Amino acid sequence: MTTFWTIWITVISLGSLFGCTWLLWVTRKSEPFQSETSETMGHEYDGIEEYDNPLPKWWLYMFMATIVFGLVYYLLYPGLGGFKGLFGWTQENQWEAEVQAAEAKYGPLYAELAAQPIEALAQDTRAIRMGQRLFANNCAVCHGSAARGSFGFPDLTDNDWLYGGTPDKIKETLLIGRIAAMPAWEAVIGAEGITQVAHYVRAMSGQQNVDKALADRGSSLYAANCAVCHGGDGKGIQSLGAPNLTDGVWLYGGTQAMVEASLRNGRNGVMPAFKDTLGEERVHLVSAYVYSLSKDN
Ligand code: HEC
Ligand code: HEC
Repeated sequence: MTTFWTIWITVISLGSLFGCTWLLWVTRKSEPFQSETSETMGHEYDGIEEYDNPLPKWWLYMFMATIVFGLVYYLLYPGLGGFKGLFGWTQENQWEAEVQAAEAKYGPLYAELAAQPIEALAQDTRAIRMGQRLFANNCAVCHGSAARGSFGFPDLTDNDWLYGGTPDKIKETLLIGRIAAMPAWEAVIGAEGITQVAHYVRAMSGQQNVDKALADRGSSLYAANCAVCHGGDGKGIQSLGAPNLTDGVWLYGGTQAMVEASLRNGRNGVMPAFKDTLGEERVHLVSAYVYSLSKDN
């Protein structure tokens, strides 16, 4: 903080305190704590008059106490610009102390749970509850509080996996994050090609309202351009994060218009990496929670 702002803040803060003190002083009665009187101030409004009484004592003492409190506060804590206060308190060191206290308290518990395999934790109600809380704080914004996903964000409770639903794969997804690479196709196969292959994709997923002739023409486009990632049978390839197109589960919608939009612009869903933000032990716990959601389905 520059000297100018330090002076500015100090003058205003202390000035207000001294201003209040001055106000108390000049409005005091000559006999400081004289008793109540029946004299009035001499004015009257609608029959209401005002007694010429001093401030009640308790009120006066409280006022003085707040002023003293304010001065002591300014002495101990940062409040006057660059002056740090005698306690040397800062937001940062309080936060660090709290983090350290939490680490000391929960660290051993996390370490104990992280040493157990995810399959075992998925049966342990205490671990699940901890994982659920981590999920609510870190994942629910995107995947929903019930982990059922929404447009562009996968449902984690079903058995349909982009990257794999084994404990190891789930944990890997959380640690390193995922960036889906579905290219845009408009420039490659043209608008007509997109319409055709979209009909073919919808036919693969079992939809009835497709144009057979368009779907047939789409089939060769699919074999040439799409099978590398989505597989010849359309069942997807998990190591590439390329979804199964035959199961009727859609990340971005399965209508003709939505499938065409996926093809025209490409799709690049981003799952952030949590290795650094949550750390390995918490990731292990939340993986167990995610695993528990789908294992019984
Ligand atoms: C910023 C939004 C966002 C947050 C926060 C987020 N995710 Fe994701 N997650 C995604 C997206 C988007 C995908 C899909 C990536 C793709 O399209 O390939 C995904 C994919 C996944 C997958 C892979 C699903 C599959 O089918 O293979 C898992 C598991 C997962 N997330 C779990 C979590 C967990 C647990 C957390 C919290 C620690 C979390 N996610 C936080 C957006 C998010
Ligand atoms: C380089 C690999 C790759 C190629 C080639 C590719 N895709 Fe994809 N595709 C993906 C990935 C990865 C996703 C998932 C995108 C995401 O999660 O954001 C995807 C998503 C999709 C979706 C959205 C699925 C949903 O659930 O909403 C459709 C539809 C699709 N691809 C069709 C095709 C078609 C048709 C072709 C050929 C013209 C094709 N893809 C070629 C990798 C590929």
